[in-house]
Amino acid sequence: MRIALTGANGQLGQALWDCLSPPHTMVPLNQDPFDLGRPDAVEQVAATGADLVIHTAAFTHVDGCARDPDLAYRINGLGTRYVALACQQLDVPMVYISTNEVFSGTATTPYREYDPTGPINAYGHSKWAGEQAVRELLHRFYLVRIAWLFGGERSFVRTVLRLLHDPPAGGLRMVTDEVGSPTYAPDVAGAIARLIEQPFYGTYHLVNAGECSRYAFAQEIASLSGHCQVPIHPIRLADYQRDSTPPAYSPLANIAGAALGVVLRPWQEALAEYLASL
Ligand SMILES: NC(=O)c1ccc[n+]([C@@H]2O[C@H](COP(=O)([O-])OP(=O)(O)OC[C@H]3O[C@@H](n4cnc5c(N)ncnc54)[C@H](OP(=O)(O)O)[C@@H]3O)[C@@H](O)[C@H]2O)c1
Repeated sequence: MRIALTGANGQLGQALWDCLSPPHTMVPLNQDPFDLGRPDAVEQVAATGADLVIHTAAFTHVDGCARDPDLAYRINGLGTRYVALACQQLDVPMVYISTNEVFSGTATTPYREYDPTGPINAYGHSKWAGEQAVRELLHRFYLVRIAWLFGGERSFVRTVLRLLHDPPAGGLRMVTDEVGSPTYAPDVAGAIARLIEQPFYGTYHLVNAGECSRYAFAQEIASLSGHCQVPIHPIRLADYQRDSTPPAYSPLANIAGAALGVVLRPWQEALAEYLASL
């Protein structure tokens, strides 16, 4: 297949590139000249002549989205609409990468694909607007929600590793009441590669199995990377000042992918493999 990939230089984009090329012919759509903030993004995607478009590009800085919600909507909401319009013109399916942050975080069990959404921050609202554009414009799409991605340069894992190497006085402070599903970019790329082989369009939750708090995640990173001596102190979300509020409890349940045999391993296994590779 000829696959157009937005955000090819991003964390997931790079993992998808490595996973899909070969066997597929990949066409990258990177910022400059491709800009999701401009309507001519439609023409640029359409001009690729792709058989499938994978849309990973987004304004992913969650606090930045909170500071400029209109820009978040332009890039993540309207930008995704442009990509979907191009898929409509090409008459090809689209893979849209969405997020756990479309959920409110008030649940007590992992969110299933069919659970009602209810974003509570600007990033979540903008990604939800992207989901709506895909649903409104296309009848062939894979709407893939992921969460807590690691495997690239900019991730929670890399931030924690930097802090462990050069700890602040008194140690690290990590939140106990934000819980999610850590997800290894190469694992989700592999799952997407399997998904697009089959015309089972719809909504998917592709995350590594299991859940943890930011605190437990950081502890596992410290343990696996040999930094157990660095103190990590539990704090509450309310004690961590930032511009946006994440959903407190947003692990995702993979039901639709599992029905097709597309299942990701436990996050601890993926994290161990990733840390060993660094
Ligand atoms: N990271 C997570 O924890 C997480 C969790 C859930 C869902 N997601 C979703 O997963 C997808 C991939 O995330 P990621 O972590 O791989 O993202 P990332 O590393 O931040 O990469 C985002 C990509 O989007 C591109 N981009 C940003 N603004 C753009 C614009 N105006 N026009 C065109 N391209 C633009 C960036 O281009 P440059 O390289 O030129 O900056 C970059 O390649 C996103 O849709 C995100 O919402 C991520």
